Amino acid sequence: MSASHEKDGTGEAPGEARRLLHSYGRRRGRKLKPNQKNLVAGALPRFAIRTPEKGEPLDLPALFGFRPRALWFEVGFGGGEHLAHQAANNPDVGFIGAEPFLNGVVSALQHIEARGLANVRLHQGDARDLLPALPDGALEKLFVLHPDPWPKQRHHKRRLVQKPFLDEAARLLAPGGELRLATDDEPYLLWMLERVPTHPAFEWMARTADDWRCYPPDAIETRYAAKARAEGRKATILRFRRR
Ligand SMILES: C[S@@+](CC[C@H](N)C(=O)[O-])C[C@H]1O[C@@H](n2cnc3c(N)ncnc32)[C@H](O)[C@@H]1O
Repeated sequence: MSASHEKDGTGEAPGEARRLLHSYGRRRGRKLKPNQKNLVAGALPRFAIRTPEKGEPLDLPALFGFRPRALWFEVGFGGGEHLAHQAANNPDVGFIGAEPFLNGVVSALQHIEARGLANVRLHQGDARDLLPALPDGALEKLFVLHPDPWPKQRHHKRRLVQKPFLDEAARLLAPGGELRLATDDEPYLLWMLERVPTHPAFEWMARTADDWRCYPPDAIETRYAAKARAEGRKATILRFRRR
């Protein structure tokens, strides 16, 4: 982050510098059990998307083995419960999930295998390494549910929701497409509200309080949302339409 950005207190870094910063905390957690290792060896290659070379486009029909009606993307799917739920309910949609945390990827694989999902592909890594390989207007929906809040001021620059990411989301979402954010962290909620509705590409879809207080009927509560509720924090869901 440049000194001027530190001084102006926004905590935001400009485009290139921002790309180099991790927005996630860890890539590995508990040691994998033998059956989980088998899943990584046996199933992950069938579902994995490798990181494309710079400038290399993603071949979408080849990726799924069928031509999806639309493409949806979840950044930071955690344990993959929401991703698997949406993919199961929308078999004609191609679903890409990105998550650097290996144990989360393993959990998602378990959901995919248990439900026999054929319309999901996973990127084990930073979503921002994959998004540039997608063509303009490729996405109908983009989900970022409970992104890491990075509460300390000096870490705000790691927050995913800021201008470079929103510009990329605006490029990728087709007109009428949806950017769906959720958080249970009040400071991050305010941060999002300062940035997304003021972005020229996005229109806030909320009409009544329930629109941000309740998960929409198509979704399920994520693992982090459930944890937040158990700890007495409320989740807020922010849905934006691509103009
Ligand atoms: C607080 S967890 C929430 C997980 C899940 N969405 C939920 O609600 O249960 C945030 C997740 O986002 C992932 N993450 C953070 N930055 C990311 C990025 N740039 N690309 C992909 N995943 C990311 C982290 O690894 C972490 O698993």
